[in-house]
Amino acid sequence: MNNKKTFKPCDLVIFGALGDLSTRKLLLCLYQLDKANLLESDTKIIGVDRFADEGNLLLKAANTCLDKFLKEARDQTVWERFSARMSYLQMDLTKPAEYAQLSAVVDKDKRRMINYFSVPPFLFKSICQGLKLSGALTPESRMVMEKPIGYDLASSEEINNAVSDVFTGDQVCRIDHYLGKETVLNLLALRFANSIFTTNWDHNTIDHIQITVAEEVGIEGRWGYFDESGQTRDMMQNHLLQILTFIAMEPPVSLDASNIHYEKIKVLKDLRPITKENVAEKTVRGQYAAGEINGVAVPGYIEEEGANIKSNTESFVAVRVDIDNWRWAGVPFYLRTGKRMPAKQSEIMIQFKQLPHNIFKDSYPDLPPNKLSIRLQPDEGVDIEMMNKIPGIDEHIKIGSTKLDLSFSEVFNGNRVADAYERLLLEAMRGNSTLFISREEIEQAWTWIDSMQNAWAETQDVPKPYAAGSWGPDAATELMARDGRTWDI
Ligand code: BG6
Repeated sequence: MNNKKTFKPCDLVIFGALGDLSTRKLLLCLYQLDKANLLESDTKIIGVDRFADEGNLLLKAANTCLDKFLKEARDQTVWERFSARMSYLQMDLTKPAEYAQLSAVVDKDKRRMINYFSVPPFLFKSICQGLKLSGALTPESRMVMEKPIGYDLASSEEINNAVSDVFTGDQVCRIDHYLGKETVLNLLALRFANSIFTTNWDHNTIDHIQITVAEEVGIEGRWGYFDESGQTRDMMQNHLLQILTFIAMEPPVSLDASNIHYEKIKVLKDLRPITKENVAEKTVRGQYAAGEINGVAVPGYIEEEGANIKSNTESFVAVRVDIDNWRWAGVPFYLRTGKRMPAKQSEIMIQFKQLPHNIFKDSYPDLPPNKLSIRLQPDEGVDIEMMNKIPGIDEHIKIGSTKLDLSFSEVFNGNRVADAYERLLLEAMRGNSTLFISREEIEQAWTWIDSMQNAWAETQDVPKPYAAGSWGPDAATELMARDGRTWDI
């Protein structure tokens, strides 16, 4: 497998360079990479969009992007170097003949061509065909795309087929930005660089696992897109299932893309399907009603701008996931994600089993189980709830629950945390696909999600209302209570 980590100058072509993702994230991240001296001096950025270039549109967009989103003062020397890398092409992406313009600006002998598809998926096929015709591609070239990669298995196969007509598996970088987050990557270190966790990570020691990704934001003007997908397709199909695979996979032989992908696919294949027989017991869908967030009144989902008041799309979903393999038999994973929740708070909580016998019952009759919490955001870090002796010379040894807290901001004080996109752009430029998602992973994830979506359709499930600013419908609490458990946050 070609997984070369060598760096070389790139022609980074951004299709949709004046669109939302590019002008909010990509240009800012590229500036940061340049500032950190991580762009080769000969690397070029070529913005492609449909607008006529009246007065250097790309440069203006980059300027506004930095003004709006750069938290520190702009480094003028870096800005000059960065802006000198940029050029712009006006193209109608649906017209193959227009791609010939690219050959005039890219240098395939000197630079690796990275094609970032920052456009809606209906354009993917024409871009692929246009690129093929342009003659600008080489085996070193890469294409980068991100969700939504389809709406279900069938549509994702269609996209993947169009892409694979032109690019080989190793050339395709499917982005899930959660895999660029420090805390998600730290799962690999935590699990595979600490012997206490390599040996205590299965049904013998773990009672259950919770993954919560709570968002404070609502639909943010994206009602049209979001209503088509809902929180399950928007967040669970990708971000939450990816986190789950990192927690549940077997130790990979190495960090090589093929080994990591192989282990993640095995987990996805072992997810027990949600069917019409078990959907009511294992899942809860919710839709936010009007409420309050941080003391500010916010509208309900169907009262948002552009909303269809009859929408049955979920903005919240909670699911009990079972993994049918040796390691995880009998250990449920509870996944929960929603918009308009009380806070932006994401956490993985691993609850270990209760001890079989309590010798401290005189001072602590209910010995609580150990909990390992991995905080993804905010205040990234890891903590373990452990029992300790309370200092004192009482007749009975007194014990209490305390936290061993490893907050990243304290421990790695001063280290700037790179944005997930910075890392992923860099990995694409390095030609390393470990942090990208393989086609089979996407398709396995869709297979599992499709069966849940079909089960909701067959049982005519209607999302339950929850007040904006709450932790979701009561049914989500009941889902845990039925198993004798509670959500940790
Ligand atoms: C995106 C979803 O993939 O992730 C958004 O489309 C969501 O709806 C966002 O808000 C959350 O990302 P983060 O990094 O802010 O947790």
